[in-house]
Amino acid sequence: MSETQSRKRILTGDRPTGKLHLGHYVGSLKNRLALQDQYDCFFIVADLHTLTTKPTRAEITQLARNIYDVVLDYLAVGIDPEKSTIFLQSAVPTEYELNLILEMMVTLPRLTRLPSIKDMARAAHIDEDAIPFGLIGYPVLQAADILLPRAHLVPVGKDNLAHVEITREMARRFNRLYGEVFPIPEAMIGDVTLVGIDGQAKMSKSLNNAIFLSDDAKTVEKKVMRMYTDPNRIRADIPGRVEGNPVFIYHDAFNPDVDEVNDLKERYRKGKVGDVEVKRKLARAINAFLEPIRERRAYYESRPGLVEEILIEGTRRMRKEGEATMALVYEAMGLPGYALRRALEEDRPFQLLRG
Ligand code: TRP
Repeated sequence: MSETQSRKRILTGDRPTGKLHLGHYVGSLKNRLALQDQYDCFFIVADLHTLTTKPTRAEITQLARNIYDVVLDYLAVGIDPEKSTIFLQSAVPTEYELNLILEMMVTLPRLTRLPSIKDMARAAHIDEDAIPFGLIGYPVLQAADILLPRAHLVPVGKDNLAHVEITREMARRFNRLYGEVFPIPEAMIGDVTLVGIDGQAKMSKSLNNAIFLSDDAKTVEKKVMRMYTDPNRIRADIPGRVEGNPVFIYHDAFNPDVDEVNDLKERYRKGKVGDVEVKRKLARAINAFLEPIRERRAYYESRPGLVEEILIEGTRRMRKEGEATMALVYEAMGLPGYALRRALEEDRPFQLLRG
């Protein structure tokens, strides 16, 4: 424990909006796996953030399934609950508390100028004049996520960089007003964006161009055989383009047999290999890559209650960390209500004015 306590901390995570796919793997999960040995990692399942664009009863009903799927995906890829903390945002009361305090550390124009807020509204078909206060506050809640465990490092994609920058500003402002409570967190951009199987710039569930970490071997095969390749290559004996070609981007990402990949590229360039062979070998490589993930998934799925147990333990740990941070926050601020709260909790007398 004292060993993990001296380690620098990471906070990152995902909104539970569905199953994770190969794009998530190369863009962030792979990076997290590499970091969990050197850092004390906190992985947040940010369900409250989904309310900013998905507030309906039906959307909330879907959360239980999505939370389960994300946690299971984390575990399946090899996030180790013995090393890392996986927790559910909405089950940590201090998230809501720190969110409110941080709302005082940022101006409204600073938030409304962010392109990401309008982007999220547009993607959710919300008119600009119908944007809820909570969506404008999205980065404030994200800052609470990051600052609650007093994280040093935040691995995120490019699209979240501005939110980490705002978090740094809020932490600095708090520290300047009340004293050094928060480390100023650094963003770590692990941004590798994977093209979709349809050749679109980004693999995404909503674009329907994803291979999911939970897809079975047959599904992977079918998706790979349908993959977009070089559109100019209408016959196997025509020289093809390797650069920017999704099948070769995937070969580079998932096929560890470099000799095989180089041989395929060489023959492809010369018009000496058909798409079918390239794709068969790719499907085989992706399935080999997914096999250990499938095994770990089966392990966790076959033990009823285990996924929940891991989420409970992680959330318990985060709640403790959150309480400790908020004690520092309220004491640094000298907020009288905190003293009253403690007095009530411990059944002690309370005095507003001393002497
Ligand atoms: N905003 C992230 C996303 O785009 C999810 C998220 C919520 C997050 N809180 C975070 C990421 C804290 C990093 C750190 O899905």
